[in-house]
Amino acid sequence: MRWLTSAVGVAALLGAASAQDPDSKQVVDAETGFTFGQYVSDQGISFRIAIPDPAPATGSYDAVVQIAAPIAIGWAGIAWGGSMTYNPLTIVWKSGTDVVLSSRFAFGYYVPPAYTGAVYSILKTGTHVNATHWQITAKCTGCTQWGDDDIGVTTLDPTQQNPLAFAFSTVPPDTPSSNTSSFGIHDSIGHWYHDFAQGTNPGFTALVSKNSEGPGSSNATTTATGGSTGKPTNSTLTPPRPTTVTSKTSSFTSVTLTPTGNSTTTSSKPTPPKPTKPTGPPKPSRPPKPTKTLKPTAPVKPPHSPPFPFPVWTPKPKPTAKTPV
Ligand code: HEM
Repeated sequence: MRWLTSAVGVAALLGAASAQDPDSKQVVDAETGFTFGQYVSDQGISFRIAIPDPAPATGSYDAVVQIAAPIAIGWAGIAWGGSMTYNPLTIVWKSGTDVVLSSRFAFGYYVPPAYTGAVYSILKTGTHVNATHWQITAKCTGCTQWGDDDIGVTTLDPTQQNPLAFAFSTVPPDTPSSNTSSFGIHDSIGHWYHDFAQGTNPGFTALVSKNSEGPGSSNATTTATGGSTGKPTNSTLTPPRPTTVTSKTSSFTSVTLTPTGNSTTTSSKPTPPKPTKPTGPPKPSRPPKPTKTLKPTAPVKPPHSPPFPFPVWTPKPKPTAKTPV
């Protein structure tokens, strides 16, 4: 019995140690030139995030988000705070040969309304549809910090792992061409720890401009409030180019982005099995996962006009100091 207890203790310790590893890996996308931290879901949906280097130690910073999904995926989304509610949601889907991005923010477990606190610019290079996959690349201003006095302000740490969540459905939105379309509940959701430091880019601003116009296009970047459509500039789609394999440090597993938009591990080392998340308290270096409960103190904002179906919520400006009377 004593042996059994010790064995369980050792296993728990080993589990806790491996749980420190992020679920994301570093990849370099030769098509856009961005270095991303990438998480791939069991369904083969890739969620990639690139950020500036250096990113400000405090406050909001821009991020480039790239989502590549198998063609059978109807919609997919990232929850930047790791839960469905009270954080920016980046929802994407394909519409013919276009890929549509919609900015949402959920106050409950129903279709999330549009969110103007995050503004997106679609990067035309890196946004396309082919026979097997669709992919979108967009710069987001407002995805790394959100909230107000009511719900509290959250800032994602650019140097560390942050708990994110995804959701997807194989059923496309009701009106795919509209970024304010309604859509049905997810088939599945998942959580992961994303190491933002894996996606740091010293030439971030230059890469954003370089990729904004797309190959052979003189069009300006599409800017989105609430959502946007990324129109590939070429109607004949060029398959994504093969990408460079890099490994920033030995702790990262190198991967190659394949022409299908998915990644394959190219490290000669076998990939270790995915660690199970600890059920106990996380180590201090890893931020705790957010609770899944709704914040009872956060009042649901009254809908602005138009009231249906998608009221828009904008964060309240910080209250100014009261002048004495
Ligand atoms: C029609 C739209 C949607 C509906 C009706 C819906 C509904 C729900 C419901 C009923 C739950 C289960 C709550 C529970 O029992 O704990 C849930 C959980 C969840 N949903 Fe959604 N959802 C929708 C869209 C989304 C989107 C767009 C995302 C993210 C991109 C998302 C992310 C999540 C996550 C991460 C959870 C796990 C619980 C949490 O972390 O809050 N959902 N959703």
